[in-house]
Amino acid sequence: MPASVSRPRLTLNSRPTRRPAIIKQIRSLSATAIVMPPIRSSPANLTTRCDIRSLSTNSLMPLPPRHIFTKIPSTIASTRQIAITAMPCVAFNTAHSASPPAPGADFNVLMIGAGNIMFGSDEGPWNHSFRFEHKLGPRLKVVGLIDPNVERSQSVLDGKRASFVESAYRDTKVFRTIEDFQAQMTKETEPRAIVVGSPPAYRGGTTKANDLELQLLKLFPHSHYFVEKPVACGPVEEAKEVTQELVRAGNIVSVGYMLRYLRCVQKMKQIIAENNLTVMGTVARYACAYEAIAKPAWWNKAIDMGPVIEQGTHFCDLSRYFGGDVDIGSVVAHSVEWDEAPGQLSKIPVDESKIPEDQRIPRMTTATWKYANGAVGTFVHAVALQGTAYSCELEVYCDGFQMRLVDPYNAPTLYLRRPGDDMEERHAFTDDDPFFSEVSNFIDCIEGGPDPHILSSFEDATKTYE
Ligand SMILES: NC(=O)c1ccc[n+]([C@@H]2O[C@H](COP(=O)([O-])OP(=O)(O)OC[C@H]3O[C@@H](n4cnc5c(N)ncnc54)[C@H](O)[C@@H]3O)[C@@H](O)[C@H]2O)c1
Repeated sequence: MPASVSRPRLTLNSRPTRRPAIIKQIRSLSATAIVMPPIRSSPANLTTRCDIRSLSTNSLMPLPPRHIFTKIPSTIASTRQIAITAMPCVAFNTAHSASPPAPGADFNVLMIGAGNIMFGSDEGPWNHSFRFEHKLGPRLKVVGLIDPNVERSQSVLDGKRASFVESAYRDTKVFRTIEDFQAQMTKETEPRAIVVGSPPAYRGGTTKANDLELQLLKLFPHSHYFVEKPVACGPVEEAKEVTQELVRAGNIVSVGYMLRYLRCVQKMKQIIAENNLTVMGTVARYACAYEAIAKPAWWNKAIDMGPVIEQGTHFCDLSRYFGGDVDIGSVVAHSVEWDEAPGQLSKIPVDESKIPEDQRIPRMTTATWKYANGAVGTFVHAVALQGTAYSCELEVYCDGFQMRLVDPYNAPTLYLRRPGDDMEERHAFTDDDPFFSEVSNFIDCIEGGPDPHILSSFEDATKTYE
């Protein structure tokens, strides 16, 4: 970083701030509305550290005065030997740049859900417990694990206690409900952070069956919440009510749309900011490998709401990250249903005959919409591939620019075409772990650590759900 460039710390406005004020700002940033400024972002000399649009929480708040890029130029691979240093990439709190966990006081975490997202699986790289261990080291103390499936909780804890992270799980108590945990909680075991990895059917709403966040606010008002996507799978209006309560309470809340933290994605934001571009349109394609998806709930619309809500949501969210708010009335969608000729699948790994016909999922879905600023969006989700690897791409178009994000799950790569050239540059980043980045930024926000950014607020994630 050039000596003349001061670190932006957590400044979201131009006034100098002392630490408590900074933390207050973050608290409101993370739960509050991300009111996106126009996509044409900034005056020519106005630059920012990462995401101009998500850091600007409201239009009254001036953007930070200058760009600070924590580049890692050596990790940019370009097939055309582009001037790497001229286009430094944003990397903040990534696994690559993270220091080893610092010593310090215990950090209590309560985990809700003992499933794949929390403890990992063969399905993919997600595994929050691993990232919390990596971030907090011996400070991590998992005070409770909540899951109605007590055997599953016990089994994952047995595994952890037999490993070198034993100290984090030595005193973890298992409960079926958060109420049971709270009833025995002491000052010493109050969680600083609560990680929510239960299925969306049980959260994001206002009824007894799904009002988890409202209960968290009541039972653990001093904790901060990391909540998995999608934020709900009930009525959108209920999710909006939950948002309002979270915003009112002011706790730090981060939602697990980890793809926003990908360095390729941040580079795309950087290119848009540096060139003062207006996004003209987004084209998203998410084709999953259905043969490997063996969860009956995933194949049942009545439980997971179908694959667009369950997984395609990541690309709806990324589309919005670039295109901004969507004119919801403009959304038009079509799908190939399970009983139509093109929808016949030969390798479904669950017994679909056990799922009521009207609850079986569509095979392919297409949608188009207008963004509020007039740009257009296209989304395609396909339950069509076999094997294990997904085929996912997001294209973003601006005047003279095409940015193609390819394979964000396995080998995130950005193909960039710019004005004056028909060739595509290729940018790839090593050691990029967006799951670590989102956890690291969340913890740093709680602790007032260096330069944290929460890129997905509950309110913004609710718009993605909508
Ligand atoms: N960001 C990502 O890439 C990513 C990846 C995987 C899953 N997820 C999300 O994580 C969430 C969970 O998915 P998963 O794959 O871990 O599912 P899973 O089925 O493997 O695990 C869910 C666990 O939650 C438990 N559970 C059910 N009701 C509960 C309740 N009321 N309270 C606490 N626990 C309860 C279940 O018993 C189960 O053990 C979903 O919202 C999913 O979309 C996100």
